Amino acid sequence: MTAERERSVVEAVPKGLFIGGNWRDAGGNATLSVEDPSTGTTLCDVADATPDDAIAALDAAAGAQQSWAETAPRERGEILRGVFDLMNERADDLALLMTLEMGKPLAEAKGEVSYAAEFFRWFSEEAVRIDGRWSVNPAGSGRLLTMKHPVGPCLLITPWNFPIAMGTRKIGPAIAAGCTMVVKPAQQTPLSMLLLASLLQEAGLPDGVLNVVTASSASKVSAPLFDDARLRKVSFTGSTPVGKKLMEQASQHLLRMSMELGGNAPYLVFGDADLDHAVDQAVIAKMRNIGESCVAANRFHVHESVADEFASRLAERLGGMKVGRGTDDGVEVGPLIDDDQRSKVAELVDDAVGKGAKVLTGGEKVGDRGYFYAPTVLAGIPDDATLLREEIFGPVAPVKTFSTDREAIDAANDSEFGLVAYVFTRDLQRAIRVMEGLEVGMVGLNRGLVSNPAAPFGGVKESGFGREGGAEGIEEYLYTKYVAVDL
Ligand code: SIN
Repeated sequence: MTAERERSVVEAVPKGLFIGGNWRDAGGNATLSVEDPSTGTTLCDVADATPDDAIAALDAAAGAQQSWAETAPRERGEILRGVFDLMNERADDLALLMTLEMGKPLAEAKGEVSYAAEFFRWFSEEAVRIDGRWSVNPAGSGRLLTMKHPVGPCLLITPWNFPIAMGTRKIGPAIAAGCTMVVKPAQQTPLSMLLLASLLQEAGLPDGVLNVVTASSASKVSAPLFDDARLRKVSFTGSTPVGKKLMEQASQHLLRMSMELGGNAPYLVFGDADLDHAVDQAVIAKMRNIGESCVAANRFHVHESVADEFASRLAERLGGMKVGRGTDDGVEVGPLIDDDQRSKVAELVDDAVGKGAKVLTGGEKVGDRGYFYAPTVLAGIPDDATLLREEIFGPVAPVKTFSTDREAIDAANDSEFGLVAYVFTRDLQRAIRVMEGLEVGMVGLNRGLVSNPAAPFGGVKESGFGREGGAEGIEEYLYTKYVAVDL
């Protein structure tokens, strides 16, 4: 990758706020810097929205709501389908931008572009399948009619770890359902979303349907929107503590909420599992996105009969991964997003090691530029290690043993989170018993990756509520109206 190509892709991205179909500066011309986490240097500056800018974005969304809701579903779907095509045409630019601002290796960034675009294709097909029900009143006289309507203007708050895909899986169903929106991308990774907004505009999305406000503080722009009764829904992907604060603010106008929050995914390997496969899938479940994913395997619970073998094979695989800048050939592990994130990962490892865990590979920062941390496998994890309870969000795999199925299920459920769990066994009855016993929204059965635009993504407990993707995803943006018909 040449420096010239990197510069030109960054330069070509609009850097302003996208409001009512226009690109404009933030009030007071304030800007915020976007950093390359592999070097710690600034890539460029983008607009830093004020509270008034956020209200201007909501003005635009509210102004476009009625006509967008009345636009034919087929037309809404075709715009999404058009952006799906544009994203695939511009996949190299989108992927490079994402690698530059977020750090993930280029091959993974390309994978995310394709994953992200699939949400648009999926919801382009769902736009024309919004239906209702007609039934006979059980008492005989009268009929019951239900119909679906868009909930209205939405605030979509997206995270830095999947800068495009977490946007498209909110924007796609909102557009398909007939909702308008204000999107607030993470301050660390606004460029991918700004390029995506320009592609939506190019595909013919009417002015005001999608508005993007980049800002150095999410609360600065979200607080005035929560205060405004025109906003009807919030979809948030991010941490559980922030999700709880947003819930409090949303109570003011009783907003519809979708919350995709933290995880602490257990990865259960039973004694009868195909160990080669369990290790291959563990590399994906742990190392996809440098471990910075809410569905990353956070703790490996492995039956005592195979735990040593599993841990040493996993250590060999992770220890052999190439760490470096995501644009360099062959790199499999990029930097963490920033120094705070890397320090948090280092603290969790140091805490476990201080309490007796053994480092099989890694366990340290890498290099003196950027925010790299070595892929790490820890064995002999004590029960009080903090990383068993907290989301690591980094390339660290703690391996712990269990002896009975009951112990494995109890350990898996011993968390306030309930997003996803991974189960490896060849015994069908055990698989069913374990799947049914897990308190999670998603299970990977002999698979280390569950994410799929055609499937409902989401959790239970403090991992949040609401589902993104699948047939369920569009329901989050619709409300049901019931009509009692006299007959
Ligand atoms: C996330 O980490 O927030 C989502 C990951 C995914 O969609 O796979």
